[in-house]
Amino acid sequence: MRHFLSLKDFSRTTLWSILNRAKELKSARRRGERLSSLTGKILAMLFEKPSTRTRVSFEVGIKELGGDVIFLGANEVGLGKREAVKDVSRTLSRYVHGVIIRTFSHDRLLEFADCSSVPVVNALTDLLHPCQALSDVFTVWERFPVLEDIRVLFIGDGNNVLHSLLFASAQFGFSLVVLTPKDYRPSPIILAEAEELAIKNFSRTSIHLISSVEEIGKVDVVYTDVWVSMGQEKQRDVKLRDFKGFQVNESLLEKIGNPWVMHCLPAHRGEEVTDSVLDGARSIVFDQAENRLHVQKAILEWLWK
Ligand code: CP
Ligand code: NVA
Repeated sequence: MRHFLSLKDFSRTTLWSILNRAKELKSARRRGERLSSLTGKILAMLFEKPSTRTRVSFEVGIKELGGDVIFLGANEVGLGKREAVKDVSRTLSRYVHGVIIRTFSHDRLLEFADCSSVPVVNALTDLLHPCQALSDVFTVWERFPVLEDIRVLFIGDGNNVLHSLLFASAQFGFSLVVLTPKDYRPSPIILAEAEELAIKNFSRTSIHLISSVEEIGKVDVVYTDVWVSMGQEKQRDVKLRDFKGFQVNESLLEKIGNPWVMHCLPAHRGEEVTDSVLDGARSIVFDQAENRLHVQKAILEWLWK
């Protein structure tokens, strides 16, 4: 039985097989082909935080492959409140063929997966967002066939999206330059795990933490994420103050070689990114959003392969 919880859990061969399948699925959809690889599969989607892309791309993806979903929102299950996590996990295992979860604590996801007898997919926790990062690699790969040759800058908060991009760098070999305010660096544990994995895979680490814009140099891609993540609304004022100077705007783009611009979305326009950059010619954010669909379909197929 397979889960999809973190990009660090897989071999490079598995991750590449998912990306190659996503490419086929993207072409098949463009040709209007009908597929049936998930016929008979019913998945539960347990979401304790809001979502547009993840929810819709999974629902559409499952249905396009012949399966079906049941969506359970924040007020329905009461994971760990109305009922123990393990009881929900064991119960759902008796009804559905897989569970896609978006929750706060990563430990809660791990506990759920541990007790589950059906595959569990991480649709974002406070710590990781692996479906996002894998489809981001796909988006970059569409433009740069040799990932090991490129430099990606991540500028922003060192949490879930960045953590999964660190594992993506370790698995795919692209160089990842990370610029965050000093109190918002990525988790040292995740960083150490990603560096260890990079050395195992490529005999080198391609992750570079820097502390000022002057150290960036030229990059092929710049990636940012919101400064105020879901669940952090109370910290908003402090974070807006601490992230001043970390915005992706026209002047930054010019300094760093006019790279492609990526953002997992939702964006807080005018905070981490300006309107003109997000809507500008270098922005590939909606390709990114679209690719969630193709890559997640490939992830789902892989779960039962
Ligand atoms: N990028 C992403 O996960 O978007 P949603 O929060 O809308 O699902
Ligand atoms: N860091 C953001 C990512 C949203 C997809 C959050 O957790 O809200």
